[in-house]
Amino acid sequence: MRMPVFSRTKRWLALLGCVLLSSILLSACGDEASTSILNTAGPVAADEKVLFYVVVILAAVIFLGVEGWLVYSIFRFRERPNTPTPYQNHGNLFLEALWTGIPTVVLFILLFFTIRGLLQVAPEAQPKDANTVSVVAVGHQWWWEFYYPKYNITTADELVIPAHTTIHVDLFSNNVIHSFWVPNLTGKTDLIPGHDNTKWFIADKNGTYTGLCAEFCGTQHGNMRFDVKAVNTDSFQSWISTQQQTAAAPGDSLAQQGQAIFKNQCSTCHGIVGVDVTQFYNPQQFCNDSLGPGHNYPTTDVHCLIGPNLTHFGSRGLIAGGVLTNNSQACNPTDPNIMKDCHLAQWLNDPQGIKPGNDMNIGQLTTGQIRQLVAYLEGLK
Ligand code: CUA
Repeated sequence: MRMPVFSRTKRWLALLGCVLLSSILLSACGDEASTSILNTAGPVAADEKVLFYVVVILAAVIFLGVEGWLVYSIFRFRERPNTPTPYQNHGNLFLEALWTGIPTVVLFILLFFTIRGLLQVAPEAQPKDANTVSVVAVGHQWWWEFYYPKYNITTADELVIPAHTTIHVDLFSNNVIHSFWVPNLTGKTDLIPGHDNTKWFIADKNGTYTGLCAEFCGTQHGNMRFDVKAVNTDSFQSWISTQQQTAAAPGDSLAQQGQAIFKNQCSTCHGIVGVDVTQFYNPQQFCNDSLGPGHNYPTTDVHCLIGPNLTHFGSRGLIAGGVLTNNSQACNPTDPNIMKDCHLAQWLNDPQGIKPGNDMNIGQLTTGQIRQLVAYLEGLK
């Protein structure tokens, strides 16, 4: 006996279910698509995308086939009054062979594409490119340091690379496991203390790509972002020569006072070449914890800085692992609303409130001191 009201309710529930499901599916569309693995900007990510599609399409075909057959059978062969016992096919050799054979073929197809993908992105597959740029990427809790051995420079939160050039990355951590991931350019590779992985990638297009830490590494794991800026070769070379210079001298008396505060309160953890350190240091060499048990992070080696090297801080786009952007245009040191407008001022005022648990334990600065530090640090282009 049919109950029309109940049936209408079920129809509405089904409709509601479809709306909810489609909202989940469609939520992947929109602005966030720019950091999607499907929006590739280089050969490594493109090869990985092929494997992704192979798996998704195979899984979708199997899902629709099995579920379709199941739903069809439920309705077509449902029990009706006076139905005789159906035909029993237990032990049918043909059927047994068929449903052993189909999954075997499917798994071999997946195996083929998986091995092909592994070989395409393996360190051994790195193209022989005379212009290859090598970078040491260091995972800290919670920010990224990038050291360029050939040019002897260090940056933080921002990896500047030439486009159309092979980038070789040595992945180093002396604390916990992190994972280097730039969805548009390359998949994830872990940074494991005591086991230095390598990877390579190429950016085919100029642009800024979001990088992430993809392995839970503590409370601020989500605030361990970086930007990969792919620029043309000329811009890259001029960026390198700027970064190789020692820090700019303070431009005015406000900045001079800021430099004095830096020397006094910040230089235990941060370095500025030409101020408290004489050069950039290779973290892989100086922050190595393979010295044995008991030699814990942060290492006591003075060449291994706890915080980012700030020599060219004013040229960078992010602060503290991307928890804030470095909106330098809003950082006029004499701005009466500096605490509202300038992210660096906010950061200096309350680093533990903005990013709880990070290593920056500076005493409370006065607004005057913050203005002086902002004048100095934003001037370090
Ligand atoms: Cu580093 Cu998550």
